[in-house]
Amino acid sequence: MKNKFPTIWHLAVILLYFILFTLPFSLLQGIVPKSFTAWMMLLAYVIPMYLTIWATRRTFNKKGKLNFKPDDWALLPLVIIVAYAFLIVGEFTIFLLPEPSGFWKKIFDMLNQTMEEVFNNRIAGFLMVAVAAPFLEETLFRGIILKALLKKYNPYMAILISAIAFGIFHMNPWQFLYATVLGLFLGYMYWKTRSLFYPVIIHMILNGTAFFAAQFSDMKATEGLAEHLTGEDLQKYLIVVALSLGTIVLAWYFFEKYFAQTPKELFLATQNPHKITEIKQILPDNYQLKSLKDLDFEGKLKETGSTLEENALQKVRQITIPYDVDAIADDTGLEVPALNGAPGVYSARYAGKNATYEENVQKLLDEMKGVENREAQFRTVVVYSKDNKEYVVSGVIKGHITTEPRGTGGFGYDSVFVPDGYSQTFAEMGETEKNKISHRAIALQKLKEKFD
Ligand code: IMP
Repeated sequence: MKNKFPTIWHLAVILLYFILFTLPFSLLQGIVPKSFTAWMMLLAYVIPMYLTIWATRRTFNKKGKLNFKPDDWALLPLVIIVAYAFLIVGEFTIFLLPEPSGFWKKIFDMLNQTMEEVFNNRIAGFLMVAVAAPFLEETLFRGIILKALLKKYNPYMAILISAIAFGIFHMNPWQFLYATVLGLFLGYMYWKTRSLFYPVIIHMILNGTAFFAAQFSDMKATEGLAEHLTGEDLQKYLIVVALSLGTIVLAWYFFEKYFAQTPKELFLATQNPHKITEIKQILPDNYQLKSLKDLDFEGKLKETGSTLEENALQKVRQITIPYDVDAIADDTGLEVPALNGAPGVYSARYAGKNATYEENVQKLLDEMKGVENREAQFRTVVVYSKDNKEYVVSGVIKGHITTEPRGTGGFGYDSVFVPDGYSQTFAEMGETEKNKISHRAIALQKLKEKFD
């Protein structure tokens, strides 16, 4: 568990991938005609970056899925304002670095020359900086690295590590500080929304602004604005930096309040429409309940465990691991002491692999023909996976098995189960009544109490 992706070594390997994939392009760079340089640079960024993402996913992150789904559009104006506040603060960090000299001066000049060449070709430059970089870098640093870090560390630690990794990836001190600062905001928005939508938009705005600024001024990409200012202008600039910092703190306060209020998405890791209806009825309104149809999940949820607990965990993880969402799953069994606990974990396939509810009920009644002790219980194990932590609760309702099916409501064994203290079967009493007392309701109630 401790060495789960991403450790510092994994991050080093990712950087190495990028350097390795870039190498052949650096060699090509020298032999392409001058007029083609900017396009070559675009390719020399996009292809290695794409390959790095591909290799990272293949080696460390096979099951992860990327989510670019738009989140709440209402936040867009504030997100844009905060993005610019970060741009100003990030840009200010360049001013904090000493003037480069010696070895660093060489790197500094090389970097500026490269940037100039890219920025000089409007189309190739724009595509690289404002389109390709936001998508590719957010995919790698937020969609893969931060997503995995959030499973290992507390959120602020995870965001900090991903931001530093993002900074180091830029491979020079000027962009290191700047990218690390911006990485904090990009990471924060990813953490709160679990979507790459805002990180990509923010990244586009920031890089697009830098690109246009370079078109209209002769400022070097690695120079801070402050370096051009003196006296009163410098003072004004410092006030703007302070105001930007203030804006960031205020916005943070607002975002925290906003995200605490918005109902969190909770996915129901079940393909049983009856369970979906029941869980929706039982759970309180402060969850935004989603079904697997809202994900691109294909196929059937596997349940091959030998206990209800194992099955419930197996079901929930098939959703939480690839999609990085909160989810809830249950596994239920009807346990009959006279049948040594059968059908138990095999309730769904008691009469055979693809048995219908009716066939299962019939098999149960056949097995219990002439049996006097008709005691039975439904047991449900519910697993709630919240922020990658799993909470397990169970609910039991005792009752007895009738001699023939009664009622048309509910599903499964409802038509032959009469809960203690009642004379009707679950199938006769109707949804509302069943959902007040059922095994599932008891388990979900326990969860609710835990989180209230
Ligand atoms: P599952 O594996 O949790 O989906 O449940 C296994 C089987 O138990 C289902 O196929 C149903 O036959 C039965 N079952 C689950 N929940 C209920 C219930 O609330 N009432 C009656 N039968 C149920």
